[in-house]
Amino acid sequence: MKARQVQLVEYPQGAVQPSHFRLAEVDLPAPADGEVLVRNTYTSCDPGMRLRLRESGPQGYFNSFPLNRAMDEILTVGEVVESRAEGFSPGDTVSHADGWRDHSVVKAGVPSLGGVGTLARLDTTLAPAEKFLGPVGNMGLTAYVGLIDGAQLREGDVVWVSAAAGAVGSLAAQIAKLRGHYVIGSAGSPAKVRHLLDELGLDAAFDYHDGPVGELLREAAPDGIDVYFDGVGGDHLRAALAAMRPWGRIALCGAISEYESAGPQPGPDNLFQAVANNLTLRGFRASSYLHRFPEARLELGGYLAEGRLLYRETIVDGLEHAPDALIRMLNGDTTGKTLVRV
Ligand SMILES: NC(=O)c1ccc[n+]([C@@H]2O[C@H](COP(=O)([O-])OP(=O)(O)OC[C@H]3O[C@@H](n4cnc5c(N)ncnc54)[C@H](OP(=O)(O)O)[C@@H]3O)[C@@H](O)[C@H]2O)c1
Repeated sequence: MKARQVQLVEYPQGAVQPSHFRLAEVDLPAPADGEVLVRNTYTSCDPGMRLRLRESGPQGYFNSFPLNRAMDEILTVGEVVESRAEGFSPGDTVSHADGWRDHSVVKAGVPSLGGVGTLARLDTTLAPAEKFLGPVGNMGLTAYVGLIDGAQLREGDVVWVSAAAGAVGSLAAQIAKLRGHYVIGSAGSPAKVRHLLDELGLDAAFDYHDGPVGELLREAAPDGIDVYFDGVGGDHLRAALAAMRPWGRIALCGAISEYESAGPQPGPDNLFQAVANNLTLRGFRASSYLHRFPEARLELGGYLAEGRLLYRETIVDGLEHAPDALIRMLNGDTTGKTLVRV
């Protein structure tokens, strides 16, 4: 059969443009033994993809996307059309990581994206399929382990979450709030700040464009913070270091403010605050904490079912618009999880 897929044709230097991609029609072989044919329904846009749009990405991170071939290892959900793999039947809803294409032939049992993208059947009684790309999927796991393992969240902690109107940040902020913490969120527009305060119910929020981040944070948290959930890096990380109380903890989740820069960015110039205040800065990748998936799903699935967790999605229709969706997300022009409806 013929299938459509988005391919990268050129590594962007600077801002990502639609012209860096093309939509290609390719021959898709029938599934062999151990494989399934999946009709994809939703596919993901993730900031980390920007790092993989470099010819050579950060050492130890996921591989760069190849040119003029399918872009592999992008989380996706869909429906099994044909199965030659044990444990999978036509009609099953599954997740896998052969995304940004309308149909995929996926081999069962082959680890992908550190395990979060390995072909898996989904229990859609827990949540609709696309939520497995969000709160009950890798986004939920990231938010959960970032707080629990990265930040070692403790009772009474004052928590700041950056990129708080996004896929991971909105979950981290709400988990902390639902667990009884005082939570400050930051985001990039007045509408997002209203969303953080009025819909997510955070205690304080600011738009980081409204002044130096350090000053905005001091206004929101005059007595300082104990935990910073960092999705941004750069000036945000610097501001957090300046505002941390003794024995504070920073969960280094990502550094989106640096992803489009051509060369390596300098670290914060106030790192000595970590010594002065006995701080812990811990980087983490959700895929290294797969053992936490059951408890993360239980907690987040429970909040969802009880209607206590709000999870916005920006859904862009059409596989051919996947590059636009990614660009919009990188530019802050989406709220919640950015998905493409294939
Ligand atoms: N460690 C892990 O396992 C893991 C897993 C998933 C994601 N991540 C990381 O977590 C972070 C958030 O990912 P996500 O999937 O939830 O994306 P997201 O927050 O849904 O989307 C990214 C958001 O970042 C904000 N942003 C862009 N440029 C910025 C800048 N220069 N300064 C401040 N904010 C900026 C934009 O919102 P505004 O309008 O607010 O600017 C944009 O909407 C990223 O750093 C990502 O790499 C890490």
